[in-house]
Amino acid sequence: MKNQLVLITGASQGIGHALAQLYLQNGFHVIGTSRSGKIDISHPAFEAMSLDLTQMDSIKEFEQYFSNKGLKIDQLINNAGIGPDLGFSFPEENSFDQTFDVNVKGQVFFTEAIIKHLNKGAKLINVSSKMGSIEQCVGTDSVAYRMSKAALNMYTKILTNRYAGQYQIATLHPGWVRTNISGDNSKGRYSPEESANMIYQFVSSNFKTGIFWNVETDSESEW
Ligand SMILES: NC(=O)c1ccc[n+]([C@@H]2O[C@H](COP(=O)([O-])OP(=O)(O)OC[C@H]3O[C@@H](n4cnc5c(N)ncnc54)[C@H](OP(=O)(O)O)[C@@H]3O)[C@@H](O)[C@H]2O)c1
Repeated sequence: MKNQLVLITGASQGIGHALAQLYLQNGFHVIGTSRSGKIDISHPAFEAMSLDLTQMDSIKEFEQYFSNKGLKIDQLINNAGIGPDLGFSFPEENSFDQTFDVNVKGQVFFTEAIIKHLNKGAKLINVSSKMGSIEQCVGTDSVAYRMSKAALNMYTKILTNRYAGQYQIATLHPGWVRTNISGDNSKGRYSPEESANMIYQFVSSNFKTGIFWNVETDSESEW
């Protein structure tokens, strides 16, 4: 794995932070992003960069850095995401816009900008949620969040079709993890480190491109 570069968005806390540390332990070079550009990880193979998925200028500047340096990515983990309406019963305009700006528009235009910097055979992972599964949905809450992850799953399928034979692509559910994504996530079943471990195992495997994977059950998820 030495000399492989993994790019992890949203690495300042939660699942992304744990993933960045795990990849470093496994000998990867890691670029992690946060809006501030500050990430509390000190390691010679780690670089923190600023990226705000809601700002097209930020995406452009980020991509320019990869162009200028001629960097090639072996694994892209689109992990950054928000859930301001998690647990709420009805959609609300501001949180709806924020959710779609980050989880959908930001993910799409960031990926479109950066994908040309992936090495042939690279892996591209979108961190989704089983809350975005249409088939499994029995709830009525978290309207924007659920819809945004369903949209991200569709984008994953589109990418799979477009890059068949070039990249190995998947969308995944990382488990219910104790992070700061919603008001009270303290009952989550996994620590960020446990989730990162499950994600790492999956991404390291020779998975079938185009799948929606649940790392919690270690099996394919219904769409
Ligand atoms: N926790 C769970 O139980 C759970 C379950 C299913 C799916 N997920 C998914 O897992 C992923 C990680 O979630 P988490 O629970 O680890 O959340 P988290 O602890 O809140 O971390 C979210 C990360 O996203 C970054 N971020 C937020 N807004 C951003 C923006 N506008 N542009 C770029 N980056 C931004 C944050 O960085 P800064 O704020 O520093 O910029 C932070 O590093 C998300 O996609 C989430 O939907 C989580």
